[in-house]
This record gives sequence, structure tokens and C-alpha cells, in this order.
Amino acid sequence: MRRKLAAGNWKMNGLGAGLSEITALTAAHPDPSVDLLICPPATLIDRAAAIAAGHPLMIGGQDCHGNTNGAHTGDTSAQMLADSGATAVITGHSERRTDHNETDAQIADKSQAAYDANLIAVICIGETLAERDSHTTLDVIDTQLAGSVPDTATAQNTVIAYEPVWAIGTGKVPTLDQIAEVHAHIRQRLTARFPDGADVRILYGGSVKGSNATEIFAVPDVDGALVGGASLKADDFSPIIAALESA
Ligand code: PGA
Repeated sequence: MRRKLAAGNWKMNGLGAGLSEITALTAAHPDPSVDLLICPPATLIDRAAAIAAGHPLMIGGQDCHGNTNGAHTGDTSAQMLADSGATAVITGHSERRTDHNETDAQIADKSQAAYDANLIAVICIGETLAERDSHTTLDVIDTQLAGSVPDTATAQNTVIAYEPVWAIGTGKVPTLDQIAEVHAHIRQRLTARFPDGADVRILYGGSVKGSNATEIFAVPDVDGALVGGASLKADDFSPIIAALESA
């Protein structure tokens, strides 16, 4: 049985005052029947973790370096995230792949660094609009899965997030058939490669809102969501959590 997961990615949003949203979220969901994860900016991780202490809400990072320490000005290691109270980290988000030219090999290194620090890696994959239009979506997914997911991945240390790049922050969502096709494909690849691939959670991400969450969560092999914009406010994220709890 795969436990469902509602994950929020705050991206480069949030100051100390925004931590009240984490307080509100824990108050609104005192005993959630699904796993919850919020990935605030790195500057807020220790404070967010202190607020979430004693509640099942997990706090995560949005990126980590592939090395444990060293001369990498401005970077944060997985061990540092864990030391700050994180229990998970997003790797390979499309914004990092684009803004920082991250390669699949680097993302695999970051994910391995996450495992070594006892963090869950939420590894993101997904096609651009040009790739979808040229009917290469499944090839892109195969390449990213093969290159970004370490051989040491397990159902415990890894979550895959399928995020079509063209659906992120745009209000555009693939059809339910398109989501189903890609999730089934990812499941097949995970099952073929990993002994416990059937148990690895696969999230959908890209313009998930309270209004479309229920239909997306009804798609087979959708084990939850990675949510950007609608995770910033507890009032917006709560209906998504509720939809997942009743899926
Ligand atoms: P969005 O972002 O929900 O704002 O589309 C999703 C993501 O980038 O993880």
C-alpha cells in the first residue's frame, strides 16, 4: 500500500511572517490520514520544523548539493538540510533544470546525497510543451527516470513527481488520460527496475488546485500531488489535502 502524499513547494516565496501558514495547516489537519510535506525556502526550514514538531507534517528543502561539504559558495548540502530539521528534499525541479542547467547526472548525485543524509528525495521529471507536441513525452520521461533516479532508490527514500513543465504555474493541466498514460508508464519503468518499484509513490504536479484535485487524485497511480502556488496559503492547500484524504 502506498501512503498518499500532499507536498507543497513554496519556491522562492515566504518570509518569517509566512510561517503562520504552517501553524494554520497543522491546526486544520491535526491528525491527517495522508502524508504532508511543505518545502519552504531554506531560510525558513529550521523555524518551520520547530513549528511542525510533534505534528506529522514533514518539512523539506527544495534543492541540495551533491557533495556533503566543500567550496561551493551559496549551496546547501543534504546533511545541512537534515541538520535544520528537514526530512525530505525536492531534486530536479524543472525550474532548477532550466535556471541552473541541472543535468540528470547531477540530479542523481543530489538524490544520492539526500539518501546519504536520510532524506526522502522527491525527484521531479516532466516534458516541455515542445516535447509533448512532438510526441516525445514518454522518451523524455524514460531518459529522466534512467538518468536522475539512482540505482539505490527505494520506496522508502524516493518519491517521483511527474510535472509537465508547461503545466507548472500556468493554470494549464493535462487531460486525465494524459496524466494516466504517463503515470502508468512511470509505474511500469519503476517496477521493471526496482524490486519495490510498485510501492514508490508517484505524485502529479502542475497547477493542482482545490477545484481540480479530486479528479486528478482519482487517476490510477496518482499517489498525491506536488503543489506550488496553491500550497502557499493554508486555506488553498487544505482543500487539496481533504481531496487526497477522501480519494
Ligand atoms: P504550481 O507548481 O502548482 O504552481 O503549478 C507546481 C510545482 O512547480 O511544483
